[in-house]
Amino acid sequence: MNEKGTAVRMTNVSKNYLMGKVAVEALKAITLEIPRKRFNVIIGPSGSGKTTLLNLIGCIDFPSSGRIEICGQDVAGLSDNETSDFRARNIGFIFQNFNLIPVLSAYENVEYPLLLTQTSARERREKVQQMIDAVGLFDHRHHRPNELSGGQRQRVAIARALVKGPELVLADEPTANLDSKTGRSIIDLMHEMQSKNNTTFIFSSHDKQIMDHAEEVFVIQDGQLVDNGREGRS
Ligand SMILES: Nc1ncnc2c1ncn2[C@@H]1O[C@H](COP(=O)(O)OP(=O)(O)O)[C@@H](O)[C@H]1O
Ligand SMILES: [Mg+2]
Repeated sequence: MNEKGTAVRMTNVSKNYLMGKVAVEALKAITLEIPRKRFNVIIGPSGSGKTTLLNLIGCIDFPSSGRIEICGQDVAGLSDNETSDFRARNIGFIFQNFNLIPVLSAYENVEYPLLLTQTSARERREKVQQMIDAVGLFDHRHHRPNELSGGQRQRVAIARALVKGPELVLADEPTANLDSKTGRSIIDLMHEMQSKNNTTFIFSSHDKQIMDHAEEVFVIQDGQLVDNGREGRS
């Protein structure tokens, strides 16, 4: 693999959902390569297949047909346990609805992914403190999610996604539930964290305004890739 290389390679990937007896073709023969260590953006209107695509990349769901390689690993070849383990080690998630654990503090939410990997208490403390600091939440570390603003919750989610140093961070419309100013600060923070940690980010949005930081743009419409990100931007 070269310096940057490929984080995600999809070949002819389709995904159908069954709605009663009707098949919905959410993704239609997608072929793409998403580069490593970049800020990649997937743009498409609501219903175009962004969440479906990210769920496949995150191994939360599986394709109806086609082949998916994540960080060089053909994920279809993994057992359930191996898939969970692969996900825990390599992939961090940031969601539209934050998906924090309500009974845990900000600190504990960030610590949580490390409890799923073998990390000593001391190393956990160092990593969590460093991440909480990096997202500017030191003073709020003991607050629970319902004691935080939307922007602060998303900061916790960013810290949680990055704390284990994953190869890949997936963010599904992370600013959709934030006002535009807060959304902007969250995008800036994600971009800063992406370059600082040299992580691969894949970020979905229906909002073209937020593409300033995008290094690669993939446009999806009706389950089809209409622009593979190679043109249009420099
Ligand atoms: N679990 C599901 N069951 C049936 N249809 C679904 C399911 N999830 C998504 N879809 C359909 O698949 C298409 C793509 O949805 P989605 O990936 O959520 O798009 P986006 O995230 O871009 O809004 C839509 O037509 C949606 O209605
Ligand atoms: Mg979606």
